[in-house]
Amino acid sequence: MDRILAAGSRDEYGQVLQEKQDIIFKISRQLNQAGFTPIKTSLIERQSTFDRYPGTDMFHLYDQAGENLVLRPDMTLPVARFIETHYRSQAPNRLYYIDDVFRKTDYLSGDYNQETQARIELIGDASLGAEQKAIEIMLNLAANFNLGQLEIVLGDASLIDTILASFPALSNQQRQALKKSIEQKNLSRFQELTKHLPDLPAVLTDWPLAFGQRGEEILPKLGQIPAVKPIIIKWQKIADFIHQHFPNIKVTVDLAGQAPQPYYTGTMIQGFLPDLGETLFSGGRYDCLLKNFQGDFCPALGMELNIQRLMAAQKQPAKGQHPIVVVLAKGRVEEDVRPLLQAAGIDTSPLEHPGRRLIFESADHQFRFILVKPTDVLKYLDRGIGDIGVVGSDTTDEQEQNHYDVLDLKRGQAEFVVAAPAGFNLNNSQRHRIATKYPKRAGSYFNSRGQDVELIKLEGSVELGPLTGLADAIMDISQTGNTLKANQLEVYDTVCQVSTHLLVRRGALWQHQQQLTKVIEALINELKGV
Ligand code: PRP
Repeated sequence: MDRILAAGSRDEYGQVLQEKQDIIFKISRQLNQAGFTPIKTSLIERQSTFDRYPGTDMFHLYDQAGENLVLRPDMTLPVARFIETHYRSQAPNRLYYIDDVFRKTDYLSGDYNQETQARIELIGDASLGAEQKAIEIMLNLAANFNLGQLEIVLGDASLIDTILASFPALSNQQRQALKKSIEQKNLSRFQELTKHLPDLPAVLTDWPLAFGQRGEEILPKLGQIPAVKPIIIKWQKIADFIHQHFPNIKVTVDLAGQAPQPYYTGTMIQGFLPDLGETLFSGGRYDCLLKNFQGDFCPALGMELNIQRLMAAQKQPAKGQHPIVVVLAKGRVEEDVRPLLQAAGIDTSPLEHPGRRLIFESADHQFRFILVKPTDVLKYLDRGIGDIGVVGSDTTDEQEQNHYDVLDLKRGQAEFVVAAPAGFNLNNSQRHRIATKYPKRAGSYFNSRGQDVELIKLEGSVELGPLTGLADAIMDISQTGNTLKANQLEVYDTVCQVSTHLLVRRGALWQHQQQLTKVIEALINELKGV
């Protein structure tokens, strides 16, 4: 093993590295000419540099004195640290860097832990000129490479809060829950939360899908909320600038967008490649970050371009009109959900006699189906192979959530239960052994109850655990209850409900907005019984 690379790592070599170096050279030359000052911060930072903005899974190290260090997962915070320590009174106003950041990706997922970013920071400029300059720089950089059509998506980190603030009756908790459902495009959850919200304007009934064309349609009506007006006026000015200087670039809006980092405060900008369903560059305003470091307010805007994505976009032929790829969990999920998909206008007839085949295409070539084990659905989705995923919430809860969980399909309904032989008592003093296929869910359940248990991960037939003495109890799903009954196990506690969900890859929701919105609407109607 001493000659093998760590998971999620790679060596760069030869032609591929030369191509990357050429790109980096072109970008640096252009940014130097545009008056940006280069900066290279340390690869290793104190962990405390990132403490105020938790949420990123970082690689940890210790120095000689036992200080907690990390490999930088982000470069904006190190630059903020640099400005604070070196330029308290007069910060340099235009910086750039091209370097690597390190974030732990889902283990053994095929994703890399290291990413090369080219990033610009415009510091001290509160005017729209900063937004315009950053977009101009990024579009000019992109023009060096043969990338196909680019689209600019405008959002604002304060928009959702601003709209929700116009409903004074909402509690803080309701507000947070609504915001989360909108940002995650979780339509089922959003509709559940807004069922008893009488003053929600009709125009916002499918707010999580209010982006792109749908977002543009409802934008004029949102202007009636006074606090939203300044944001719309700002977007309009940015769009006018783009139309004037880059007439071929389409500009659209996202009224349901999530800030890429928690320190974003205002305008958010994305350069999207519709043919590839990928974001090439993104960034926005973070006016409070430097204030936190310096104690003085200092407006700032940053934008980063992903070099690996640029390289991939150069090579990848435009997908054009390709079928929507549906990744289905085979077995119970697929059988339960097939009639619903069919009723919603997705031709699932090729799946009726699958034999040993694993890929199927609908007769109208609009959909391609991939049948995989439930635990593999997210891998195909999050690595960009699939557009839609259909899988149980028991499976998705155990894995990284990099996709949109759009709809609860109300199929495959089951319960997560703790089950054990009669007489089992979790509250006596011994440390219990719990067998489960779901260690994450089980861990959080027992932790939240202050129960210290020993979890035993099994891949299936979990009921055998207590029967053979391997475990004292199990946490598993129960649908009909037959398996528990047949193995003389009783439900000790019901933890939560489980059902099949419709997931959508983030880029796919933009790339196939019209078709996917149609599918989602048809499914909602079917679920309502329309
Ligand atoms: C699931 C679950 C239970 C069983 C419950 O197992 O883990 O064992 O179904 O269903 P029931 O309440 O309708 O009897 P699955 O069939 O997926 O097989 P596995 O145990 O091999 O994972």
